[in-house]
Amino acid sequence: MAAPLTSRFPYAKGPDGSRRLGYGADYNPEQWPREVWEEDVRLMREAGVNVVSLAIFSWARLQPTSDTWDFTWLDEIMDLLHAGGVGVDLATATASPPPWLTTAHPEILPVTAHGETLWPGARQHWRPTSPVFREHALRLVREMARRYADHPALVAWHVNNELGCHNVYDYSDDAATAFRAWLRRRYTTLDALNDAWGTAFWSQRYSDWAQILPPRLAASHANPTQQLDFKRFSSDALKEHLLAEREVLRELTPDVPVTTNFMVMSGTKGMDYADWAGEVDFVANDHYVVPGPQDRDELSFAANLTSGIAGHRPWFLMEHSTSAVNWQPINLPKQPGELARDSLLHVAHGADAVCFFQWRQSRAGAEKYHSAMVPHAGRDSDLFRSVVALGDTLERLAPIAGSEREPARVAVLFDWDSWWASEQDSHPTSRLDYHREALDWYSALLRLGIRADVVPAHGTDLSGYDLVIAPVLHVLPQPLAKELTRYVEGGGHLVTTYFSAIVDENDHIHLGGYPGALRELLGIRIEEFGPLPDGATVGLDTPAQALTGSLWTDRIGVDGPDVEVIARYRTGSYADRPAVTRRATGRGSASYVSTRLGAGGLAALLPALLEPAGVGSELPEQARGLVERVVRRDAGSRYVFLVNRSDEPVTLPGVSGDVLVGPPVSDAGIALPPRGVAVLRTPA
Ligand code: GLA
Ligand code: GLA
Repeated sequence: MAAPLTSRFPYAKGPDGSRRLGYGADYNPEQWPREVWEEDVRLMREAGVNVVSLAIFSWARLQPTSDTWDFTWLDEIMDLLHAGGVGVDLATATASPPPWLTTAHPEILPVTAHGETLWPGARQHWRPTSPVFREHALRLVREMARRYADHPALVAWHVNNELGCHNVYDYSDDAATAFRAWLRRRYTTLDALNDAWGTAFWSQRYSDWAQILPPRLAASHANPTQQLDFKRFSSDALKEHLLAEREVLRELTPDVPVTTNFMVMSGTKGMDYADWAGEVDFVANDHYVVPGPQDRDELSFAANLTSGIAGHRPWFLMEHSTSAVNWQPINLPKQPGELARDSLLHVAHGADAVCFFQWRQSRAGAEKYHSAMVPHAGRDSDLFRSVVALGDTLERLAPIAGSEREPARVAVLFDWDSWWASEQDSHPTSRLDYHREALDWYSALLRLGIRADVVPAHGTDLSGYDLVIAPVLHVLPQPLAKELTRYVEGGGHLVTTYFSAIVDENDHIHLGGYPGALRELLGIRIEEFGPLPDGATVGLDTPAQALTGSLWTDRIGVDGPDVEVIARYRTGSYADRPAVTRRATGRGSASYVSTRLGAGGLAALLPALLEPAGVGSELPEQARGLVERVVRRDAGSRYVFLVNRSDEPVTLPGVSGDVLVGPPVSDAGIALPPRGVAVLRTPA
C-alpha cells in the first residue's frame, strides 16, 4: 500500500491563515430554484460551513444530450459559494449516468449473477468495466477539469461517489472479459490458474482463457477460489475506474488533491479500502449509524479503521447524517446531543473535516425523508440550531487540525481477504460474521477503557504494539504468518481465534492440522472443527468467571509443556478440554480463543490476555464502558477526547488540561453530560 499523500488535505483557512477543520455537506442546488441558493450560502455562513461537495449527481444537468453542455448554473453556484467563503470539493459527476446515455448504450448496465439487468431509474447503473461507460465518464471528467481548473472555489476533486455502493458485483460480458484479463495478470499461465483454483475438483479444468466466467448462478457451490478472485477483481475494477478519472484530473489540474468517498462501515464489504487508500491524496469516508446495541462501538471502529488505512494521518468525513436516514426499515432520529457527539467521535479518530449528507433536505426524490443540515422545517428548528452549534464547536477545535491520532498499545487486525473468504459458502458454518467478530473484540476493549488501533492486517508495522488481536484471520499467506511469528518472537503478544490461519491466499488449506499456518506458534493442533447449532451454547471455566461460548468450538490438542490452558470447556462435546490457550515464547506469547464469546465474554476474558502484555485501562473504573478516550497529538500538544457514549452523566476524576470543548474541569474532575464530549489540551 502506497502512503497516502495526506499533506494534500484541503484545509480551510481562518482569517489569519491558520488551518480550520472542514465543515459542510453534499450540496445539491440543482434540486432547488435559484432564489434558494442565496439563502443557502447565507445559512452556510451562519453555520460556519466552509466546504461543500458539489455536482455529485449532476451529469444529466451538465450534459443534457450527448453533444450539449450546460455549465452556466454550476459556474454561478461556484461563484456564489466562493463569494461566501465556502470551498468546493467538486464531484466529477460520473456517479449516475443520464437517460440519454443508457438509452443509446444499454450495454453499460450492470448484470446480476442471475443474468438480470439492473435498469436505470435509480443511480450507479453502470458496469465498472464497460469501455463505453469509461469513455463517456472520462469525457465528462475532462470537461469538468478544463472548466474549473482555475476556479478559486475548487479545493479538491471528488471522484464519482461511493464507488461500488450499488454496482460492485457485475457479471456481464464486459466483466467476463475484464476478469480474464485480470486473471492473466495474476497467474500468467492457465496452469497456474488451474492450480490456484483447484480445478482438478469437479472437472473444472480450463484449457482456454475464453472458457473462464465470473461466478454466475450455477447448479451448485461455485469454485471458492473463483469466488474469492472475483471479489478481488471487482474491488480492483472499481479502483481502476478511480485511477482512470484520477489520471485525467492529475493531467489537467496537478495541484488539486483528488479523493473519493470510501464507505468504511459494517454493511459495506466489497471494496478493499486498505488497498485503495494509497491511491488518493487524502482519505475520505462516509459513515452511517445503524441503530443497535453496538452502534456507537461500530462508529468508533469504523472511524478508527479509516484512520488505520490512512496511516493515522488526518482524513475527511465526507458524509454522515444529522439525524435519521431513509434507507433502514425503521429510520430513527438522533437523540439530542448525538449529532455533535457522533461528529466529534470521528474527529477524535482523526477526521479533520466533518460533512453531512446533505445540506438541504430534499423536497422530492427517494431521499426526501433523509435528514440534512437544513431540514424541511427550515432555519427555525432544533436541528439547524444544533448544526450552528457544531460549527462553533469545530471552530474552537481549529488548533487540532493536522494533529495525528496517538498510537495505541493494542492493535486489532482487519483484513478484507479474510472477510471475503471466511464468509463464503460450503464452510463448517454459514453463521460466521467476520465483521461482527472483529467488532466484538473492539467493543470488549472499549468496555474496559483500553485504546486500540484498528489496522489493516497487511502492510502495518506491528512492532510498536504490545498486543495484537487477529480475530478470524482466516486467510493467512506465508509472509504474514512469518511476520506474526517474528512479532511474537520479538516479544509481542498475539491473540487469535477459531477459523484463523486456515487457508493460504488461494483458499487452499494449510495441511497437517489446524490452524496450519500458526500451529507451531500457538502450540496447538486441531483435527476437526466443532461448529455449534443455532441456539446451542457451551460453558467455559476461566480463572475469573464462567463464560458461555456459541457458534464454534474446537477440539484442541495441546503440543508441548509451554502451552498454558487459560480456559476449559465445562460442557459440550469437548468438556474438560482446552478452550483458550496461551503459549509463552520468551518475552512474547501467542494465545488462541476457540469459541465465540461475544463482546461481554471477551471483556471478561481480556484481562487474562492483556496482563502478560502489561496493558491496563486508561479510564477510572466508574467511566469504563461509558466513556471513550482517544488522543490526538502534534509537535506541541496532546488533545484528549473524552466522549460520553452513554445517556447518563459521567464524572471523571483526575482530569487536567485546557478545555477546548466541554464543561470546565474542577477539583472533582470533569462532569460530562449525557452524550457530552470534552476535548482537553495538555503539553506534549
Ligand atoms: C450515501 C450517498 C449519498 C446519500 C446517502 C444517504 O452515502 O453517497 O448520496 O445517498 O448515502 O444516506
Ligand atoms: C453428493 C455428491 C457428492 C458430494 C456430496 C457432498 O452426494 O454426489 O459428489 O458432493 O453430495 O455431500
